[in-house]
Amino acid sequence: MPLNSPVINVMVTAARKAARKLARDFGEVENLQVSRKGPGDFVSAADLRAEKIIFEELSKARPGYGFLMEESGTVEGPDKTHRWIIDPLDGTTNFLHGIPHFAISIALERDGQLVNGVIYNPVTDDLFVTEKGNGAYLNDRRLRVAARTRLDDAVFATGIPFKGLDWHAKFTREIDHIMPQVAGIRRFGAASLDLAWVAAGRFDGFWEHGLQPWDIAAGVLMVKEAGGFVSDINGADKKMDTNGIIAANADLLPHLQAMIKKAGRAAG
Ligand code: IPD
Ligand code: CA
Ligand code: CA
Repeated sequence: MPLNSPVINVMVTAARKAARKLARDFGEVENLQVSRKGPGDFVSAADLRAEKIIFEELSKARPGYGFLMEESGTVEGPDKTHRWIIDPLDGTTNFLHGIPHFAISIALERDGQLVNGVIYNPVTDDLFVTEKGNGAYLNDRRLRVAARTRLDDAVFATGIPFKGLDWHAKFTREIDHIMPQVAGIRRFGAASLDLAWVAAGRFDGFWEHGLQPWDIAAGVLMVKEAGGFVSDINGADKKMDTNGIIAANADLLPHLQAMIKKAGRAAG
């Protein structure tokens, strides 16, 4: 891993430690899958266990930093300039169904600016790391966003709203509008990895409504450090807005923004 600043090492150590447990729990989920009750409660416990491991590791290595965690919420520290933003298991639905596509996502903010990110998929052992000003890497490989400029060639990832969310109609309008103009659309089910894959040039772009800071913090920095661009779902430059996100290279971002806007307007 060419990025080996002390803080990156701290983050990678915490992610790998939690990942070992998560990977064992994933094996157990595969067994529980066949039981009638299913692995639901077990998965919630696995999620919490992973978060606890990450919290303990990071607290030990950097006492005083604050936390924003998906499961445990906010923990203030005496150091008001640093904050960890953590999703201990991104892609819970995949995990629950025995689908090996999920990740641990850890970001570090300094004075409100994202400065480091780690996204780790324990099943594939894909370790994405990034540092502000120093690039983004997948294992040993420096990442660049895709160079494609034409919508006809572009494969975009997105998120399909879950049951209980109220933007199903908006989503189908977007798909209706975007599908005929692009090479393909994918829904893999872990927003952190969607962004990491944009950084790696696998996806040409990504959009999703209604994400939370822990879903995207590490990924936003990853995309930018790989030469990509990120906006909120309305095309404004508000990176961690919970209204959602659009990410792509410089050529495709305006096209993706325009298509999403137009699909929204079609609603009347
Ligand atoms: C979810 C995943 C998914 C996205 C959802 C997120 P979780 O996170 O990132 O891809 O579509 O909006 O909530 O719940 O698996 O941590
Ligand atoms: Ca998540
Ligand atoms: Ca989660």
